[in-house]
Amino acid sequence: MSKLRVQSFAVSIDGFGAGPNQGLQNPLGVRGPELMEWFFHTRLWKKMQGQDGGETGIDCQIAEQGFAGIGAWILGRNMFGPIRGPWPDEEWKGWWGDEPPYHTPVFVLTHHPRPPLRMAGGTEFRFVTEGIHAALAQATAAAGGLDVRLGGGVATVRQYLRAALIDELHLAIRPVLLGTGEDLFDDLDMRALGYACEKFVPGERAMHVFLRKSG
Ligand SMILES: NC(=O)c1ccc[n+]([C@@H]2O[C@H](COP(=O)([O-])OP(=O)(O)OC[C@H]3O[C@@H](n4cnc5c(N)ncnc54)[C@H](OP(=O)(O)O)[C@@H]3O)[C@@H](O)[C@H]2O)c1
Repeated sequence: MSKLRVQSFAVSIDGFGAGPNQGLQNPLGVRGPELMEWFFHTRLWKKMQGQDGGETGIDCQIAEQGFAGIGAWILGRNMFGPIRGPWPDEEWKGWWGDEPPYHTPVFVLTHHPRPPLRMAGGTEFRFVTEGIHAALAQATAAAGGLDVRLGGGVATVRQYLRAALIDELHLAIRPVLLGTGEDLFDDLDMRALGYACEKFVPGERAMHVFLRKSG
C-alpha cells in the first residue's frame, strides 16, 4: 500500500525546520542553510546542481534512499516559492529552474488556485486548494502504487502530523541551534499521535532519526 513519507527533513537541535523570514533572498529562511549543510556536501546535491563529485557516505546514501519508490510529491506553497497571497501572474515556476528534481506529479497546497504547470523531466506542479486530505488522495492516485513524499515545508508537515497521516518521518537532526524560525513540533504530542523512533543512524553532518507511526 502506498505510504506517505517525509524524507531528509532537516531540523536543528532546538526543533526548527526553517529559519525565520523566508523570502527570495532566503529560500530556507534566515540561517536556514545551516540546516541543510549535511546535504550540500553529498554527491546527490552536486548532481542536482549539474556538478560532479561530492561525498558518498551515510548522509548521501540516506538522501538517495529518500528518492526511491516515490510516485508523487506534496509541497506547501512556501516551499514552492516566496510569493504570498493571490498569484500576480504565472511567472514563478519554483526555485529549481526548468527541470525540477521531482520527475513526478507534485501537489502544491495553496489557498490560491492556479492552472497546472508542466516542467521538463516529468515534473508537473498541480495546485490543490481543497486541503491536505484532498492533496493526499490526489497524490496517492497519481503515485500509481508507489509512495508519496511529503517535501515540506514546516507548516505542511505539521498539518499532516497533526492528522497522523504520515507513515514514516526521516529527520536529519543537525548539531546547530537556530534559536528562532519555524518550529516543527510546537504543540504536537508525537507520542499521543502514535509516533515512535524506529532507528537512528549517525551520518557525517547529521543524526538521521527515523520515526514510524504504529498501527
Ligand atoms: N527542513 C527541511 O528539510 C525543509 C524542507 C522543505 C522546506 N523547508 C523550508 O520550510 C519553509 C517553508 O515552510 P512554511 O512552514 O513556511 O510553509 P509551507 O508548509 O511550505 O507552506 C505553507 C503555505 O502553504 C499553503 N497551505 C498549507 N496548507 C494548506 C491547506 N491545508 N490548504 C490550503 N493551503 C495550504 C498556504 O499558502 P497560501 O495560503 O499562501 O496559499 C500556507 O501558507 C521554507 O523556508 C523552506 O525552505 C525546510
